[in-house]
Amino acid sequence: MAKENKFASEKSIHTDFSKKMTYGDYLQLDSLLSSQKTLSDHHDEMLFITIHHVSELWLKLIIHEIQAAISAIQNGNLQTSFKMLARVSKIQSQIIQAWDVLSTLTPAEYMEFRDKLGNASGFQSYQYRLVEFVLGYKTPYILKIYKNKPEVYAVLKEAYEAPGLYDVAIQAIAKEGFSINNSVLYRDFSKTYEKDNSVEEAWLTIYKNVDKYWELYQLGEKLVDIEDWFQQWRFRHMKTVERIIGHKTGTGGSSGVGYLKKVLDHYFFPELWGLRTKI
Ligand code: HEM
Repeated sequence: MAKENKFASEKSIHTDFSKKMTYGDYLQLDSLLSSQKTLSDHHDEMLFITIHHVSELWLKLIIHEIQAAISAIQNGNLQTSFKMLARVSKIQSQIIQAWDVLSTLTPAEYMEFRDKLGNASGFQSYQYRLVEFVLGYKTPYILKIYKNKPEVYAVLKEAYEAPGLYDVAIQAIAKEGFSINNSVLYRDFSKTYEKDNSVEEAWLTIYKNVDKYWELYQLGEKLVDIEDWFQQWRFRHMKTVERIIGHKTGTGGSSGVGYLKKVLDHYFFPELWGLRTKI
């Protein structure tokens, strides 16, 4: 017996799109799906490109959410920011899953097309650096890399000089009456945030009096979630790289795994981690 067509009873399915927008039009799938252009004939290069594209799309949404969260915190809408920051953590968990897929690429397979990358490396991902900037980690070399691309450069420079998520979180704490050093509140935001005693004291008080400072406590934990996931991404990247290229130098010019291990030492929100020993 012939299988019943599952659409047979669906009389209202739209099929005439001569004057209407399709799903593909709305999402601009022609441009999105024609961007996976391999440089070799090797089967696995498609995986390599797709993983990077997926990661960059998620990074785009992370930046969108964190920048909106920064505005919400600046406007005193902490609850609104929590929704956005929780979404960021969920996205991070998705990007981390991507390493499982990439780990199916063996060293021999990668070596078949690695030379096609030239000096291209995730090290030059400006969206990744934007995420680091909004989290308060300001490394200048990315600005040098993009000095000949004015549009990218302008976006990077603005984020480089602006207060990050942690800066506005600390300002929110100060607004609640906590005494925060002026050297923190009026710091040069183009510098990477550095640990400060007045900030640690404030967080400690908040964490020891959860009921009294429930909102600020939630803010602190949302930040810790983001940093925790960020470190897990860094770790999985480092291990996946070790699994695929061992201790070869990177296409971007760094020592490779040695460099990726070093960046694991960096903390975005040092006091929020430090207080755990003291509480
Ligand atoms: C076969 C897969 C991969 C290998 C072998 C690899 C290798 C490396 C290496 C060796 C570095 C250090 C910089 C350099 O000298 O190039 C690096 C940095 C980086 N890679 Fe990958 N990578 C891979 C996949 C990915 C993917 C899928 C992403 C997702 C976007 C990514 C994003 C980054 C980022 C953002 C950095 C900069 C990290 C930092 O400076 O903290 N990589 N990668």
